[in-house]
Amino acid sequence: MNPFTWRDGQLHADDVPVEAVAAAVGTPTYVYSATAIRASYRRLAGLFAPLGAKLRYAVKASPNLHLCRLLRELGAGMDVVSGGELERGWLAGTPMSEIVFAGVGKSEDEVRAALSGRFSPLREVAAAHGAPDPAGRGPVGLFNVESESELARLSKIATELGETARYCLRVNPNVDPHTHEYTTTGKEENKFGIDADRIVDLVSRWAGRPGLEFRGLHVHIGSPVPQVEPYAEAIAVVLGLVDELAALGHRVAVLNLGGGWPIPYTDGAVPPLEDYARRIVPLLAERAADGLQVLLEPGRSILGNSGLLLTRVEHLKRGRAKTFVICDAGMHVLLRPALYRAFHFVWPAAWTGPTPRWLEQSDLPGLESCDVVGPICETGDFLARGRRLPPLAQGDLVAVFSAGAYGISMASNYNDHGRPAEVLVDGERMLRINARQPLATILETERTAVDLAISGRPVPA
Ligand SMILES: Cc1ncc(COP(=O)(O)O)c(C=O)c1O
Repeated sequence: MNPFTWRDGQLHADDVPVEAVAAAVGTPTYVYSATAIRASYRRLAGLFAPLGAKLRYAVKASPNLHLCRLLRELGAGMDVVSGGELERGWLAGTPMSEIVFAGVGKSEDEVRAALSGRFSPLREVAAAHGAPDPAGRGPVGLFNVESESELARLSKIATELGETARYCLRVNPNVDPHTHEYTTTGKEENKFGIDADRIVDLVSRWAGRPGLEFRGLHVHIGSPVPQVEPYAEAIAVVLGLVDELAALGHRVAVLNLGGGWPIPYTDGAVPPLEDYARRIVPLLAERAADGLQVLLEPGRSILGNSGLLLTRVEHLKRGRAKTFVICDAGMHVLLRPALYRAFHFVWPAAWTGPTPRWLEQSDLPGLESCDVVGPICETGDFLARGRRLPPLAQGDLVAVFSAGAYGISMASNYNDHGRPAEVLVDGERMLRINARQPLATILETERTAVDLAISGRPVPA
């Protein structure tokens, strides 16, 4: 479904004109549609329901607590990649048993907090949120382990705490997902996962070690994965391992397929999710019927097209070579165009012509070619380049579509801008779910210098 439509010349999110959002909270602001989030979640869950698959929302896609709560209400567990995301997932009401903890560089502190709430950095905040005492919470449901060194760390800390770390090994299947090189995660030259031919040896050598319980395998080959076949290739590798392990008496109870399910950023650019399910479900149906628990870690496919970024035109500059539309959002708000040269469809919020298509070059009459850029002091600071847009003027409101995933989560304070506000619309309601970050918050941790005297040595005068 598309929650963003033009009615009476005004872009609406669900039933709320986005101009009303901008009037209420200013710009730049991320706007999410609860209706679209529910629909995307249910669509994906429905497609993989024949496998009894459970969804673990990839918090990194869009980590706002209220969005996590909404997804939790729909039945999602959480996929987290840091101690911060772990606490967030739990504060959103997710039982620890339904959280999977991934990531290549889990620190000792993060592992402690994941195994015992006694080490949660958020004990006071949790109480303020009405969450039960973190000291009473159990260990995280699963760790996705990415190296032997990490297994050693888990075993040591779990033993110290008298807990058990249940884990899946993340397999690197050496499969090309045909996505951007920065988001390719399943090729052997990538830092992620463990080479497939080392898995059986690793499971065998670590079986029975204290504090550990082997539960299964995890594989995540990239994001977004614009073709179906790489998933089938990765699944073939992993199922081969499942059989090898079973022959040695190591039961694989869980198979986590990760995320990477794509969304259309432009018309028809990727196969629909139905095609992915049609190919994948039969590969796993028998195993699932025999008790294999399938997990998925979707992020972008739920949030991506459920959110947009609202920005205002600060200046229009007509240069000899180009026209620049200079907006109040740039790479500090939405990094994807600068980082990946990612395409986001951009269009003015006030528009009375025919519904524009998600095309790189629109062929409607009266359009002007321009670069849509931000205020940041970098030439790489752009939202869209070489686009044909209706003539824009200072103060106009512009929407950047498909920005619900990896938008706010990659926003920064570069050039000392506060991070943007976030609003969730639900039918006719609009809820501010995050305030614009004030400068005082950015400066808080550096306001006062602290003298770090080196112990045992005289402090220089
Ligand atoms: C391990 C893992 N799982 C899940 C995801 C979510 O991917 P997506 O948002 O494309 O579904 C990612 C994202 O990169 C990831 O690294």
